[in-house]
Amino acid sequence: MMKSYQTLLASPTQETLYQAARLLQAGELVAFPTETVYGLGANALNEQAVLEIFKAKGRPADNPLIVHIWDAKQLDGICEVPPLAVPLMDAFWPGPLTILMPRLSSIPDVVTASLPTVAVRMPSHPVARQLLQACGLPIAAPSANLSGKPSPTTAQSVMEDMRGRIPMILDGGQSEVGLESTVLDLCHGTPTILRPGGVTKEMLEGVIGQVQLAGSILRPLKEGEQALSPGMRYRHYAPKGQVTLVEGTQENVLSAMRSLARAAQAHGETCCLMAFSEHVPALSDFRVYDLGSVLHPEETAHRLFEILRKTEEDGMSAIFSEVMPPQGMGLAVMNRLGRAASFHTVSALDVLGDPEL
Ligand code: TXA
Ligand code: MG
Repeated sequence: MMKSYQTLLASPTQETLYQAARLLQAGELVAFPTETVYGLGANALNEQAVLEIFKAKGRPADNPLIVHIWDAKQLDGICEVPPLAVPLMDAFWPGPLTILMPRLSSIPDVVTASLPTVAVRMPSHPVARQLLQACGLPIAAPSANLSGKPSPTTAQSVMEDMRGRIPMILDGGQSEVGLESTVLDLCHGTPTILRPGGVTKEMLEGVIGQVQLAGSILRPLKEGEQALSPGMRYRHYAPKGQVTLVEGTQENVLSAMRSLARAAQAHGETCCLMAFSEHVPALSDFRVYDLGSVLHPEETAHRLFEILRKTEEDGMSAIFSEVMPPQGMGLAVMNRLGRAASFHTVSALDVLGDPEL
């Protein structure tokens, strides 16, 4: 049976930070803000505590966790450090980069799902850093959502998912980046991005040269294909409504989204659009969620998960979305949007040529 809690939502003060640190030291779970998304933390060296994370989230046990540190000296007790990791840590830590490194036996199997590598990250959010320092422990933390839901970027979203399941949430405001960290594999030949995030391929290549992308970033895994990162296997980020991505020239996409929305409404769907700020006025006869400027993928990243949660709250059953070029931060956005849509994409030209619509 899972324990039940009166979940405390606390602003970070010296007192609440120490309270949170003591909970972590006692093997309890604490949700805390990071610059990417909120994390659900437990003492990474305490197997029982880590098991509670999987229970609270309903997470499959074969999906490993990221270990969070505040100081590079903690690496000694966690992993070996491959030579290429050194310039990357210098350039991007603290920040939204997670690096896979060969693990030491001090890290329990539950953390890594028995893999020979451990994922490590040093977050930059001041509340995360203060908490990690105050408890003095490496903290295993996945995103603080129920498994399968969009990651939470506000303390209120954590509360929606974790109320009653954990003792405490620290409120650090809305996460700056809004998408989870870049996960980089340095243990299997050419450095490989398993999950794109705030530290882009271009930024990594500026420091260590060639970096490749895991095959499944912009498409579903093929049958029998091995997931380099177990997290890629699961349905993810999906709101309750069916998300459809609409591709094509800007003008065609806007016309096609209107046709699709009208057809969906005629079929009794509660329908909405997700569009860039510049295009919202042209779609104002429908319910539209504003993805931020088409010129700034960072804005879309910052807003995306809250918008996906909002579509659920608002009871949307059919959601049609614009897409952006998968470059820079756009790659991370399209990876999450693709998964939210189960990669369901239509061409605007096909829609406009369809006599049924
Ligand atoms: O930004 C973030 O990374 C957030 C915040 C809280 O730090 N955390 C986060 O954790 O997104 P989570 O558990 O939701 O995602 C961890 C991802 C999963 O896709 C998992 O499969 C992958 O990292 N991962 C963890 N350890 C791994 C390993 N040893 N080998 C391959 N993939 C690993
Ligand atoms: Mg997650």
